[in-house]
Amino acid sequence: MISQLYRDMLKTKSVIRQLSEYATRRGNEIGYENVFDFSLGNPYVPVPGTYSDAVIRLHETLPSSALHGYSPTLGHPVYKKKVAESLTERFGIPYTPELIFPTSGAAAALAHAFRAVVLPGEEILTFAPYFSEYDQYVNLTGAVLRAVPADTETFQINFRAFEEMLNENTAAVLINTPNNPSGIVYSEETIKHLADILRERQERFGHEIFLISDEPYREIVFDGKTAPCIAAFYDNTITCYSFSKSLSLPGERIGYAAVSPRCSHADELVPMMGQISRGIGHNCPSSTIQLAVSEVINETADMSVYEANMNLLYDKLTELGFTCVRPGGTFYIFPKALEQDSVAFCKKALQYDLIMVPGDGFGTPGYFRMAYCIATEKVQRSLAALERFVMAEYR
Ligand SMILES: Cc1ncc(COP(=O)(O)O)c(C=O)c1O
Repeated sequence: MISQLYRDMLKTKSVIRQLSEYATRRGNEIGYENVFDFSLGNPYVPVPGTYSDAVIRLHETLPSSALHGYSPTLGHPVYKKKVAESLTERFGIPYTPELIFPTSGAAAALAHAFRAVVLPGEEILTFAPYFSEYDQYVNLTGAVLRAVPADTETFQINFRAFEEMLNENTAAVLINTPNNPSGIVYSEETIKHLADILRERQERFGHEIFLISDEPYREIVFDGKTAPCIAAFYDNTITCYSFSKSLSLPGERIGYAAVSPRCSHADELVPMMGQISRGIGHNCPSSTIQLAVSEVINETADMSVYEANMNLLYDKLTELGFTCVRPGGTFYIFPKALEQDSVAFCKKALQYDLIMVPGDGFGTPGYFRMAYCIATEKVQRSLAALERFVMAEYR
């Protein structure tokens, strides 16, 4: 008999991936340069040359076993040390290599964090709008994901609803800032208030509530600002990071989970993640990639492209009358659709070769996401298509 669980998942295939596949097919018909593909968060900006140089140098100098052998269960010591040093230097929190668990991207970091601190049947609370894959990530752990409704005025946290939903069965809270899909960066005020509420509830319920902070967009922040460091505000924090976006390395599948030195059971959690990786088969990320990333740990790809793209889109969207909270980071923007049904709205946009994702899968129907990690020249050309679409369908 085949698995009904995974068979059922065929009915909930990723809308983002389906739209991305459509964009590729349409590109084969009319030329991909004519398709305004805002579907997938797959960075267009090239990796820094220093990363490619490091890969070449490693291949020229290291023996085969060091490059291609299994990495240790708890990660390559060089990578763990570099990550810990970088976090300590940047955020003033004394991370040690023992608190860093290398993973295949943020997805695997989350998979390990959930399993380490949440039991099947317990709840993880997150905040709409949220990354659509969270449903799958959590469902397969046996835990239950519940989404706090969005504060659509600001896309900061809807604290009234959050406090109502927090309960004794809440084992973890999952946040993502800078946020996919809204592009919003939580303010220090928001994070402080969240931490205060969590500390008070931990006391009241007599157990930990872990904060799992999903931060693949930490480095993509606009207006010369930096994103507040979540672990600085709340001790029971596990940070899930990825170099997919900051170094444009999604194909290499490299990231980490970092356990705060002030977290309960801090010394046990990374060894436990080593055991979890045995169970879920997401173990031992590539040795070469861990070593290469170690050499460029504090670098990023050219993030300025995303700010330029955001400004072009934000200005055009507001000029066309869209309600839209200005993103503080990431490469996403999340405007309100011009009709209630955002699925119908995005379907109509396809006729103008605008590929955009309805907000329904992000827990916020009525909105839509544009991923602008594409060439600025293409964003510029898309503006006329956006205008034609709006004028023809909604004026
Ligand atoms: C919010 C968020 N979390 C996690 C991930 C997964 O990241 P990775 O590709 O590094 O596994 C993504 C990818 O787009 C994301 O947007």
